[in-house]
Amino acid sequence: MAKPPVIVVGSSNTDMIIQLDRIPKPGETILGGRFTTAAGGKGANQAVAAARAGGAVTFIARLGRDMLGDQAVAGFAADRIRTQFIVRDRRSPSGVALIFVDARGENSIAVAPGANGNLTPADVRRAKAAFTAGGILVLQLETPLRAAQAAAEHAVAVDMRVILNPAPARALPNTLLRQLYLLTPNESEAELLTGIAVSDTASARQAAGVLRQRGVRNVIVTLGARGALVDGADGAGWIPAFKVKPVDSTAAGDVFNGALAVGLAEGRSLLDAARFGAAAAAISVTRLGAQTSAPARQEIERLLALAGRRSRPDNHRAA
Ligand code: RIB
Repeated sequence: MAKPPVIVVGSSNTDMIIQLDRIPKPGETILGGRFTTAAGGKGANQAVAAARAGGAVTFIARLGRDMLGDQAVAGFAADRIRTQFIVRDRRSPSGVALIFVDARGENSIAVAPGANGNLTPADVRRAKAAFTAGGILVLQLETPLRAAQAAAEHAVAVDMRVILNPAPARALPNTLLRQLYLLTPNESEAELLTGIAVSDTASARQAAGVLRQRGVRNVIVTLGARGALVDGADGAGWIPAFKVKPVDSTAAGDVFNGALAVGLAEGRSLLDAARFGAAAAAISVTRLGAQTSAPARQEIERLLALAGRRSRPDNHRAA
């Protein structure tokens, strides 16, 4: 069977990670952490997650003409991601993220976007040939909004469905929201977009309602280790999180979105695709790093099979 097409437009970073007992406060120095580098960036993480979950992935991005950019492209090629629409930027270095991960697997991230900040609508237009009917376009917000808007417009014009993971959160125009098949905020992103403090199923459903009124067809509000609320024209329900021992939550949302996109592209229902994404995200949380943590399709299928009936979507059960 041919792999389903997924296009990701967005960021690529190299993550410099320090694991330590707790995250330092402003002005504080903590000794004793462990240092690792790993490939990251929300867009690149989504692309890698989608490729490993079984998608035929094209990644549209900007990287610097530097060693970190070379390493990133080599990583994408190893995951069989199409890289011909990645622009190597002369003006800026590749993006870098500094990440602290504490003993509970929680993180704190600062990003220097570098070349990510120069992605343009023209970069997206150059990749027009990759946009094909029936595919899924995945967007996030670590690159300029106008590039994401250009990609969404083109995708809708050729009958692709668009997923926007609104991370990092920012205000969004209704013109963009109306083009989305699916918006996937976490609690804080949903609050920034709607003004509703999201802490449980009821508030998540309320926030999703506001976003749907603004024109989004479907909304999934992710609530970390508790699960995710699905609310939309194509399905509604509660996806419980898979129980795992957390090591590092970095990129769990990215892995969720990448695998979810593959699920949708191969024709699963919204709820089934969300469950596929939730299984991939759960595995990623048990591993250190962003792209290093994205599971292969067989691993996702194994977890789904193990979880069996217990993890089936349970309509609107409390979070
Ligand atoms: O979502 C996790 C990602 O956020 C990291 O890989 C880091 O690069 C930042 O973009």
